[in-house]
Amino acid sequence: MGKSIGWRFLLVGLFLLVGCDKQDAAQTNSGSGGADKIRIGFVVKQPEEPWFQLEWKFAQQAADKDGFELIKIAAPDGEKALGAIDNLAASGAQGFVICTPDDKLGPAIIAKAQSRDLKVLAVDDQFIGGDGKPMTDVPYLGISARKIGQSVGQALIDQMKKHNWSQDDTAVCVITFDELDTARERTEGATEAIKAAGFPGTLIFKAPQKTSDVPGAFDAANILLTQHPEVKRWLICGMNDSAVLGAVRATEGRGFNADNVIGIGINGTDCIAEFEKPAKTGFYASALLQAKLHGYQTADMMYNWIKNGTEPPKDTRTIGVLIDRDNFQQVLKDQGIR
Ligand code: GLA
Repeated sequence: MGKSIGWRFLLVGLFLLVGCDKQDAAQTNSGSGGADKIRIGFVVKQPEEPWFQLEWKFAQQAADKDGFELIKIAAPDGEKALGAIDNLAASGAQGFVICTPDDKLGPAIIAKAQSRDLKVLAVDDQFIGGDGKPMTDVPYLGISARKIGQSVGQALIDQMKKHNWSQDDTAVCVITFDELDTARERTEGATEAIKAAGFPGTLIFKAPQKTSDVPGAFDAANILLTQHPEVKRWLICGMNDSAVLGAVRATEGRGFNADNVIGIGINGTDCIAEFEKPAKTGFYASALLQAKLHGYQTADMMYNWIKNGTEPPKDTRTIGVLIDRDNFQQVLKDQGIR
């Protein structure tokens, strides 16, 4: 008899233990840090650029609203980007938004994501497939690159006219980064508009960046300036603010200033400190892109895909508006950037 009571206690004890375990698991699953919580990665190639910091900031706003966990990862090279996918899978993420450090990594990113059962949305830089063409089957949100480039080119011409510069001693410095599709489209668009306005093609010079950052543009512009000491006035464009900032710094190193340089960037987020400098510089304006849509909307689209199975549109394009020293404060405020 004593023996059977002992067994009964043991059984009840075991039952309670199992019961507790189940309850614990259920609580964890429904709690905020639970195993079924949606986790979304946001991987960016250049975390030092204010543009990408803003994307993260706006993605976090989507996470706060929707209640998912955002995992921010910097991936400046291919190894880090592929490693990020493993890490995301290990942390229980179900999908990620990525601005890849190299658009040709697209097929490798997709293969790895599929093997880890993760959904992928490309932002900013569209994946390029093995055939050299954009991977249009992967959801993508990016800018209307050629159009925005054209508006920059047109604005440069308008400013040249406004300043009464003669075409004879003015040239155009186009900081190019043709390895990246969206960059090539932007600078080609700017060049098209400048030519369409009647500016001679022989005075439009390409200066290729080796790296898509301020030092890369600085070096590229310096080579061009050395080759063309005859040019008295420069119009400058490039794929983004960093490209134009680097080129403007290079012209300053050779004695140019706001009287003989007009640079117009793209992003509008990486030139705020430039506009805030007390004295005008050659960095005249920028096409402000919609960082909120790139960060908030992509993260929100990924959330809805995971949560409700709503697949994001394959191709979403955003626009830009020109900002300069006169209006940047108001426009940035309106867009929730400042
Ligand atoms: C690229 C550029 C960024 C920014 C985004 C906008 O990724 O490197 O600076 O212009 O495009 O989509």
